[in-house]
Amino acid sequence: MGTKEQQIHPVVDSTAVFKETIFAGKVLFCTGGGSGICKGMTESMMRHGANAAIVGRKLDRLTASAEELSKSTGKLCLPVQADVRSPEQLRAAVAKTIEKFGRIDFVICGAAGNFLAPISGLSENGFKTVIEIDTLGTYNTVKATLPHVRNSRGSYIMVSATLHYRGTPYQIHVSAAKAAVDAISNALAVEEGPHGVRSNVIAPGPIGGTEGMDRLSTKDKTATDWGLITPAGRLGDIRDIANATVFLFSDAANWITGQILAVDGGNEHLRTTQ
Ligand code: HXC
Repeated sequence: MGTKEQQIHPVVDSTAVFKETIFAGKVLFCTGGGSGICKGMTESMMRHGANAAIVGRKLDRLTASAEELSKSTGKLCLPVQADVRSPEQLRAAVAKTIEKFGRIDFVICGAAGNFLAPISGLSENGFKTVIEIDTLGTYNTVKATLPHVRNSRGSYIMVSATLHYRGTPYQIHVSAAKAAVDAISNALAVEEGPHGVRSNVIAPGPIGGTEGMDRLSTKDKTATDWGLITPAGRLGDIRDIANATVFLFSDAANWITGQILAVDGGNEHLRTTQ
């Protein structure tokens, strides 16, 4: 992560590129928004005028994050406790969001679970748990929000990964789960396009300072290694994902749906040529 490379591909704030009012009057519903990448995605949407509901399992963390996000952006943020594995809890979370804000325009399906485990150390329940959080959680989120997103002719972003494009060791469970998430978005885009709804996937590469990076770094490949080998010359930053989010939800992306956007500093291309 040399300074030279940082100058070539600097991290920028979306407000340096997009107007701060583009999402004024709009509402974001974000699962997994209490921390990490999804919290950063939510913050950027709020910086451009949206109010938001952030959904997760840990109410204390959500409440602290919601206060922080409101303070930093001047917009409203509603913390809502729900486990995405529960359709009932998600329906209740959507009802609370509608009660508070009256509409849902944008949905981020971001709640995810992960750990490194070889197949020999991955129990049936371990596999099932990740599928239930990532894949069923995405399905449950779409089911619960779709009537409102249709009403507003809104848009979805699913947070996926790039590790299932080819075999990634110790990631059988997440690879299967994220491949299905990509498939959900593709089919949703085609079915719902005629109703004015768009759906796209963001597949983040290695992003520094996140729980995912901490969990997935190994002795063989640390966060620093990822930064050094990345064609864009540095590790990803949460703002890189946030910027892509603002673009994909904005009207500038009105004819973009059913796409899977790797936001990864070129890592995927590097890996395909190795
Ligand atoms: C092997 C494991 C394990 C591990 C859990 N399990 N951790 N097996 N190695 N390190 C197994 C357990 O033994 C159990 O199976 C089953 O998984 C369920 O575990 P629980 O702890 O009971 O489940 P739960 O409390 O629901 O927790 C879900 C979780 C947990 C996914 C296991 O890690 C979690 O809550 N994570 C949320 C936060 C998170 O993962 N963030 C990272 C997101 S990053 P048995 O058989 O014993 O009952 C991300 C990026 C993906 O997703 C893309 C990367 C590029």
